[in-house]
Amino acid sequence: MTALSQNPEIPGYNFGAPEVAQSPLSSEDLLHLEQTLGWTLADEQLLRKHAALFEAQAEHMVDSWRAIIGAQPHLAHWFVGPDGQPDDEYKARVKSRFVRWVVDVATRPHDRAWLNYQEEIGLRHTPAKKNKTDSRHTPPVVPLRYLWAFVPVVTEVRSFFESAISDSAELTALERAWTKAVHLHVVLWTRPYTSEGLW
Ligand code: HEM
Repeated sequence: MTALSQNPEIPGYNFGAPEVAQSPLSSEDLLHLEQTLGWTLADEQLLRKHAALFEAQAEHMVDSWRAIIGAQPHLAHWFVGPDGQPDDEYKARVKSRFVRWVVDVATRPHDRAWLNYQEEIGLRHTPAKKNKTDSRHTPPVVPLRYLWAFVPVVTEVRSFFESAISDSAELTALERAWTKAVHLHVVLWTRPYTSEGLW
C-alpha cells in the first residue's frame, strides 16, 4: 500500500487492501476501453496538474450531486433505512468515500490497485456488497439505469473551476478530461451488473 491509500479517517475506504475485489480485466482490456473513449496521457496530466483544485472543490462537488439525489425520492430511496428514514450515518460514511473518489480520479494512475478498486465500487452498488462496508440495512441495489443516468450530473464540473482557471480553453479541456475519466470509471462499475460473457 502507498501512503496515499492509508487513510484511516475515511471509514470503509480500503483502496489497495488485500480484501478489495479483484478485477477480472486484463491490462489489455483496460487499454482497449481507454482507447475506445479517447483517454490520453494529456487528459491524465491535465487532471493531475489541477489536483489541488479537485482537492479544494471535492466536497462542494459531492454536496451538489448529493443534493440532486436528495431532491428525488426515487434516488434518495437507496439511502433509506428499514424505518423509512434517511440513514444519516450511512450517508455520511459514503460521502467521505465519494469525496475521496473525486481526488482519486484526478490523481491515481490506472494501475492494478486502481482497477481492482473500480470492481469494488461497482460491487458496492450491487447486492453483492451494497451496505456491507458500513453494516447498514438500506435497499440492496442501486439499479444500473440510475448509475448510468447520473453520469451527466457528475461530468458538468466547469462551474467549480471557473474562479480559479481563467483560460477558457484550459477549462474546456479539463472538463473534457474529467468527463472521459468519469465515463471510464462508471463503465468499469457496470461489469458486476452483467451476466458472464456479456460485458
Ligand atoms: C455517475 C454516477 C455515480 C458516481 C460517480 C458514484 C460514485 C460513488 C462512489 C465514489 C461511492 C463510494 C465508493 C467507495 O465505497 O469507495 C459510491 C457509493 C454509493 N453510491 Fe454511488 N455513484 C453514482 C451513482 C449513484 C446513484 C445514482 C445512486 C443512487 C441514488 C448511488 C448510490 C450510492 C450508494 C447507496 C453508495 C454506497 C454503497 C455501499 O457501499 O453500500 N450512486 N458512489
